Amino acid sequence: MAYHQATYDEPLIKNIRSGTDYKVPAVEERVEDLIPPSLLRHDLDLPDVAEFDVVRHFTRLSQMNFSVDIGTYPLGSCTMKFNPKFADSISQIDGFRETHPLQAEDSIQGSFRIMYELQEYLKEISDMDAITLQPLAGAQGEFTGILIVRKYLEDIGELGKRTEVIIPDSAHGTNPASAAMAGFDVVEIPSDSNGMVDLQALESALSDRTAAFMITNPNTLGIFDRNIVKISEMVHKAGALLYYDGANFNAIVGITSPGIMGFDIVHFNLHKTFATPHGGGGPGSGPVAVKAFLRDYLPVPVVSMNNGKYYLDYSAPKTIGKVASYYGAFNMLLRAWAYIRFHGSDGLLSNTQKAVLNANYLSHRLSASFTIPFSPLKKHELVLSTEKTGKRALDIGKYIIDQGVHAPTVYFPLIVHEDMMIEPTESVSKDDLDRYAQIMEEALKEDVEQLKKRPLNLSSRRIDEVKAARDLKLKWD
Ligand SMILES: Cc1ncc(COP(=O)(O)O)c(C=O)c1O
Repeated sequence: MAYHQATYDEPLIKNIRSGTDYKVPAVEERVEDLIPPSLLRHDLDLPDVAEFDVVRHFTRLSQMNFSVDIGTYPLGSCTMKFNPKFADSISQIDGFRETHPLQAEDSIQGSFRIMYELQEYLKEISDMDAITLQPLAGAQGEFTGILIVRKYLEDIGELGKRTEVIIPDSAHGTNPASAAMAGFDVVEIPSDSNGMVDLQALESALSDRTAAFMITNPNTLGIFDRNIVKISEMVHKAGALLYYDGANFNAIVGITSPGIMGFDIVHFNLHKTFATPHGGGGPGSGPVAVKAFLRDYLPVPVVSMNNGKYYLDYSAPKTIGKVASYYGAFNMLLRAWAYIRFHGSDGLLSNTQKAVLNANYLSHRLSASFTIPFSPLKKHELVLSTEKTGKRALDIGKYIIDQGVHAPTVYFPLIVHEDMMIEPTESVSKDDLDRYAQIMEEALKEDVEQLKKRPLNLSSRRIDEVKAARDLKLKWD
């Protein structure tokens, strides 16, 4: 049974005719008299619709959307888990919501305390020594981290010499993009037959030109690289830094940490691991933590405390400068703080264990119908290939959304053909997982031509995705 089916095509609000003599109450002063003529805009063509039509229009639009509050949303690499409402409600408390970032420090000690405590929690979770909460997304965290690498190299006189950042072929696309934007040459190395870093390829790529090695662990195949300590030794022996893309932190919280694995710089995706869903273009938060020897390069300010009083510390002498306005996405920080406080160490560990168990349960079940490349043992997500079934991942994805649940990520990572990347997260039940597997198995029974026509039950039929990506139209008329 589908959770919802919004098959209607909602018109633009300006095309809605209310059919009532609806009038906004007259105001005493004319707007034109209050605004300087140079700022007045004419011909706005605002719709003249009744309140009930406005409310119904937006409610219907919301029903055409799929969200984590409707059902299973296992978008691999995006961690679209259900987010508990207490985290949202804390971020809506007036005292936080109406705070201005330029208020006197004495008047916002509570907000600073939250930021300070969050810094401490994240340092403990990652086993790192210092942190900035400023970056506004995972990708911006990566960029911040690589700028720190740059500044550090400049400081030790090796910037022009160490020009390369090595990245495995299983990496998220933002990794090479961040390294290139920071001015480094990207050197890609292959994965081995287990989906882990090919150590020989790494050995040959490492040289006195290497600035850093960037890696996600577990990687985008959902596989934990068991050679990570050896990798750390190899990278450091070559005089390079080791960068941890912590977007997949939800697979290791409470079990191991980048600090233990030997990393020098780490970014978190708070908007995936610690409340707030990823995706949808909403606000994010990508704090960056470093080992002590890189502390002085962090963006300023960081929140510090002296004798129980919190203050903004601008003292990092070699700072790379600010990377976001004020102190980062404070609302996201609040949610993450609330999430960590609510769950505590045991709860966070239990969430990790559930996320890993759910991915492995689904992987095991789907292995009867699909090819699961590399190791059958996964961490938080699984990647399967539909190639041998004779059906395309795209078509199966469309079948899945037609059944009222969200499709997985498709065609990423790039190293598996016709792949689907499924991240169930901890917030699904066994029934949800069985139902999801059943839908995927049913898709295989459908005739190939019929499958290509999917979706049939939604307000939009099959769209031209290449055109949508290349011919971006942000205004719909
Ligand atoms: C492995 C990995 N790295 C980096 C990112 C980038 O994070 P963001 O989308 O917040 O920029 C993601 C996002 O999903 C990711 O999955």
